[in-house]
Amino acid sequence: MLAARNVVSWLAARAAPAMQAGLRRGVAVSISARCQSTACRRHVVATLRRHLHSNTRSSVGTRVQSGVLANTAVRAAEFSSTTGAAMDASQRTIGVWLLGTTGLIFGAVVLGGVTRLTESGLSMVKWHPIKGMRPPVSEEEWIEEFECYKQYPEYKYSNGMSLEDFKRIFYMEYAHRMWGRLIGVAFAVPAIAFWLRGRIRQQYKPVVLAMGGLLGFQGVLGWIMVKSGLDYDPEGKHVPRVSHYRLAAHLGSAFLLYIVTLWTGLSHILPERTFKETPRALFKLKRYAHMVGGLVFITALSGAFVAGLDAGLLYNEFPLMGGRWVPSDLLALSPTWTNFFDNPTTVQFDHRILGVTTGLSVLALWAKARKLPLHGRARLAINAMLGMVSVQVSLGIATLLYFVPTPLAATHQAGSLTLLTFAVWFMHELRRLKLNKMPK
Ligand code: HEM
Repeated sequence: MLAARNVVSWLAARAAPAMQAGLRRGVAVSISARCQSTACRRHVVATLRRHLHSNTRSSVGTRVQSGVLANTAVRAAEFSSTTGAAMDASQRTIGVWLLGTTGLIFGAVVLGGVTRLTESGLSMVKWHPIKGMRPPVSEEEWIEEFECYKQYPEYKYSNGMSLEDFKRIFYMEYAHRMWGRLIGVAFAVPAIAFWLRGRIRQQYKPVVLAMGGLLGFQGVLGWIMVKSGLDYDPEGKHVPRVSHYRLAAHLGSAFLLYIVTLWTGLSHILPERTFKETPRALFKLKRYAHMVGGLVFITALSGAFVAGLDAGLLYNEFPLMGGRWVPSDLLALSPTWTNFFDNPTTVQFDHRILGVTTGLSVLALWAKARKLPLHGRARLAINAMLGMVSVQVSLGIATLLYFVPTPLAATHQAGSLTLLTFAVWFMHELRRLKLNKMPK
C-alpha cells in the first residue's frame, strides 16, 4: 500500500503540472506490481483527485522502477485527462458564477440609472443594511415613512406629493437597494463555499477578496451619495440633486467592480488561444486596445457628470451648441478649472468630444486589427466593439436631441456598459502577449 501511495504521488505530479515544484524536493519512491489491483487503482484515483483539488502542496519526489513504469504511465494519461477535465469543470463553475455576478452588476447599474432618471433615488431617507430589507406594509407604516420623507428637501420642492406617488418612487429605490443586497449574497455565498473547498486558485484569492471589498464599498458609497441629496438645500428652493462628484464615484466604482469581475470570469471560462506568430504590430495593437479601453471608461465617467448636473437638458442640438462649435459660456465659471467639473455646458461639451473621440478610436483600432493575424474570437470581439460604439454614439446623440427621455437615457447607460464589456473581452483575448517582450 505504501508503494501504491508513492505511485499516486508520482501520478499526481504528472497530471498537474503545477505540482512539479513539489517533485523537485525529492522523496525516494518505488513502484511494485501490487498497485495494479483494483483497490489500489481506486486509491490512486481518489488520491489523485485530492492532490489536484488541493492545488498542489505535494513534496514528493520519485525514483521509478522501470518495469512497471510503462504500464502505469498509460493509466496516468487516462487519469490525468479525466481529473484534468474535472478540474476544468470546477474552474468553469467559478467562471459561470463570476459572469453571473457580472450580469447582476449590469442589472444594478441599469436599475440605478432608471432610479435616477425617474427621480426616485431620494425617497428612502434611512439606510439599514438588515432592517431596511423590509418595506412598509400597513397603511400606518407607509404614512410614517412618508412623514419622514416630508422632512427632506425633495418633498418640499415637490409641492405636495401624494402618498401614491411616494409609494411609486419608494419601490423604485427599494428595488435598487434590494438588487444590491442580492448581488452581495450571490457573490459572497458561493465565494465562501468555493474558498472552503479549496477551489479558488491561489492567484485569484486576493482578487476575490478585492471584489468583496469593492462590493461592500459600493453599498456605502451609494448611501454617501444619497445623503448628499438629502442634505442639499434644506429649504427645498432648488431642484434637489445628489452631488455629481459622488454620483460619478458611485458609477465609476460600479464600473470598476464590473471590469474586475468580468475579466476574472473570462479568465476562468475562455480557453486560452496562443498566437502562431506575434509580429510587432500585434504588441502595438494590444497597447492601443488598452488605451481605447481606458478612453471608454473615462467617457463613461464624464457621462456621469453630465447626468449628475442634468447637463443633457442644455443645448439639445448636435453637432453645434447654440449655433456654434464652441459655446459662448464654455468657461463662464471662475477659476477656469472648475468649469470642467461644475459648469454643465463644459461638462456636456467634454462628453461630446470624448464620446466622438471614443467612436473614432474604436474605428481606428478595428482598422488596425483587420490587418493582423487575430484568431476568430478576438476578431468577433473587435467587430462587436465597433458595432456597439456606433450604437452608443447614436444613442447619446438621440438622448440629447430628445431632451433625455428615460428609456433612451437608460439604454444609453446600458450601452456604455455593453461597450465596456466588448472592450474588456477584446483586451482579454490579447492578454497573453507581454508588452515588455516586444520584438524588434
Ligand atoms: C462612446 C461613447 C459614449 C459613452 C461610453 C457614453 C456614456 C455615458 C454614460 C455612462 C452616461 C451616464 C448615464 C447615467 O448616469 O445615467 C452618459 C450620459 C449622457 N450622454 Fe453619453 N456616452 C457616449 C457618447 C455620447 C455622445 C456622443 C453624446 C451626445 C452627443 C452623449 C450624450 C449623453 C447625455 C445627454 C447624457 C446624459 C443622460 C442623462 O442625463 O441621463 N453621450 N453617457
